[in-house]
Amino acid sequence: MRTVRVGLGDRGYDILIENGLLEAIGADLKQRAIAKRYVVVADSHVAELVSGRLMASLTAAGVSAELITFPQGEASKHLATVAELASRLAQMGLDRKDALIALGGGVTGDITGFLAAIYMRGIPFVQIPTTLLAQVDSSVGGKTGVDIPEGKNLIGAFYQPRCVYIDSNVLMSLPSAELLNGLAEVIKYGVIYDAEFFRYLVEQREAILARDITVLEEVIARCCEIKAAVVAADEREADLRRILNFGHTLGHAVEAASNYAMAHGLAVGLGMVAACGLAVGKGIFAQEQADAVCQLIADYGLSVKIPAEFSPQQIKSFLKTDKKTVGGRPFFVLPTEIGKVVVTDAVSEELIDTVLGARPKAKG
Ligand code: GLY
Repeated sequence: MRTVRVGLGDRGYDILIENGLLEAIGADLKQRAIAKRYVVVADSHVAELVSGRLMASLTAAGVSAELITFPQGEASKHLATVAELASRLAQMGLDRKDALIALGGGVTGDITGFLAAIYMRGIPFVQIPTTLLAQVDSSVGGKTGVDIPEGKNLIGAFYQPRCVYIDSNVLMSLPSAELLNGLAEVIKYGVIYDAEFFRYLVEQREAILARDITVLEEVIARCCEIKAAVVAADEREADLRRILNFGHTLGHAVEAASNYAMAHGLAVGLGMVAACGLAVGKGIFAQEQADAVCQLIADYGLSVKIPAEFSPQQIKSFLKTDKKTVGGRPFFVLPTEIGKVVVTDAVSEELIDTVLGARPKAKG
């Protein structure tokens, strides 16, 4: 078992990573004694696929737990779902000594974390992420929330889980598109923080795509270590945490332009390619390093070219409504070398136009 600690003082917590961990969660939770009773929250799909193993492990360890579900999909990520789930908790008599368990992908973690933050003004919760994206990103760091018609994640809270359990084995049955979704965030960590990890991703591409469990665990652990270090230094995204948004400024704009039909990872891949172009255009990043980043993104099967149906004007209009836009100016996370980035709003509209119209070098 690998353990990564998120060092947030008395709100700090462990991320446990192991093949087959689902079966051992009951015994570990019993020992941690976070609550006297747990409610597991899962979407309808995950409930069917995975919850049986978790519930059996909890029962075997004598942990009191019940399962509640909501319909699968981003469409559920709104306040009405939170209100409905809160009513269910109240009807079940859940009180402040009890806790929630988020079992699923990013949507489940975000909804459940937010519900835990506001139910009875806050009860503990535990994350059990079941997608690569949730394991390497959304389950760690305490960002919780829901969408409103005006934008994604516009309502929410920073609220840290008490523990994160990552069973790498659940990735064996993850659809390929979902694996790719997470791999975009994995590549992000190499570019923003760790050149050695970037090289590891170049060397281990085949093993990762073939879902070699040992290599995947190494990847998950390194991503969690980086995220834990960044979050411990800047929990509320006042400064350093902003680097985690590499590829997300233009990525979110493309995702929004597609009316969220485009997968998040695919959009982040495109956003990282565009950010490399901006950095080269500003003269702060070498073309050959930008080519290496774009090539890695392409080699993992992610797209490197923004579909022609989205015009630069359309993409730029969505930049203005992004959470990362402050005082009307979007900020960008730009690489200066592989493993290092800067955060800046000093990017001219002309350069954005050039990059959105330009063709990247990688053969995607
Ligand atoms: N996903 C970016 C963050 O957690 O800050």
